[in-house]
Amino acid sequence: MKKILITGGAGFIGSHVIRHFINSYPEYKIYNLDVLTYAGNLENLNDIDKNKNYNFIKGDITDTSFISEIFREHNFDAVIHLAAESHVDRSISSPMDFIYTNIVGTANLLNAARSIWENNYEGKLFYHVSTDEVYGSLGDTGFFLEDTSYDPKSPYSASKASSDHLVRAYHNTYKMPVIISNCSNNYGGNQFPEKLIPLAINNIKNMKPIPIYGKGENIRDWLYVVDHASAIDVIFHNAAIGETYNIGGNNEWTNIDLIHALCKIMDQKLDRKPGTSASLITFVTDRAGHDLRYAIDSSKLQNKLGWTPSLEFETGLEKTVDWYLANEEWMNRVVSGEYKKYYDEMYGE
Ligand code: NAD
Ligand code: TYD
Repeated sequence: MKKILITGGAGFIGSHVIRHFINSYPEYKIYNLDVLTYAGNLENLNDIDKNKNYNFIKGDITDTSFISEIFREHNFDAVIHLAAESHVDRSISSPMDFIYTNIVGTANLLNAARSIWENNYEGKLFYHVSTDEVYGSLGDTGFFLEDTSYDPKSPYSASKASSDHLVRAYHNTYKMPVIISNCSNNYGGNQFPEKLIPLAINNIKNMKPIPIYGKGENIRDWLYVVDHASAIDVIFHNAAIGETYNIGGNNEWTNIDLIHALCKIMDQKLDRKPGTSASLITFVTDRAGHDLRYAIDSSKLQNKLGWTPSLEFETGLEKTVDWYLANEEWMNRVVSGEYKKYYDEMYGE
């Protein structure tokens, strides 16, 4: 029985990864380590948390002694590290939170794993989940490849880039068995509504303005979160130690085109006159240092490990809308309290 520590499992992607591993590998023992920040929500795991192979540990990856202690206690075979501060806008207003969690937190996990594993790395793995944003911003052409030079532009992406560098440095210096993957923008159920798609769905539902930064011309490459979880599974089990894989759906959209596609689905689902939702589109001041375009080349993952995304964007977007409409209470609980304060400060209500 493998003991796997998954960090950040109460968040958006982490909860899908935990669900995927619990359902696919009943022989593994999964430990979810999460401090439950504003973005962590145990409700995301309601359907699997009674499973006997699931364990929750509440704790902070920046707490050095606590992290060492849990490694000593449980002697994990592998780590899948997702815990992070993940929102670019928050990194602009509070960069230090990103530096502590994403850089110091990752270093703590690496140190704790190293001190337990160092004498025998056989069968051990530190899998670090990262983002395509470490590569910076593309112009109109080109793609991010695994060997594209790092050029992070926001405090978020710079903190993730630092954590990637630390992971590689521990592999090179201490022979730590590591794998890194860098994924494009994820969408799907359980995403905190500070990110574009769930924020827009919630605003459209409530007939509130949809804030589009600048002219809406920035491009993102979107991947359904369930496909990210399946890619992590394939990489975790098949990638060679020390390798990096880019994960993406070859699915670029300008923000404005994406929002129009979403508005069309929302009009249909809510039985509204065509154009009702799009009338809420409101152009607002651009994000500082807003990256123009991300686009991932995931051919290494597709060709070497045989992974492919499972669905088309339009299908994934419709499934996502259905999830948020069916989980109104989840959304209502999430947008109350702390988040309301953030929203009012960010969008001036
Ligand atoms: P999220 O913000 O939804 O969840 C982050 C989780 O980490 C939360 O449950 C939070 O409570 C936990 N956490 C934060 N600080 C912690 C700390 N100090 N100690 C313990 N737990 C802590 O993030 P997400 O969108 O699910 O992203 C997960 C990972 O995937 C991140 O590493 C992110 O950089 C990466 N990633 C995200 C995307 C995306 O589109 N969302 C794309 C590529 C990569
Ligand atoms: P986001 O979901 O924050 O992800 P990221 O910044 O990591 O790509 O934003 C996706 C795109 O949508 C990005 O170009 C910024 C833009 N955006 C808006 O136009 N309005 C918003 O209210 C938000 C949150 C994002």
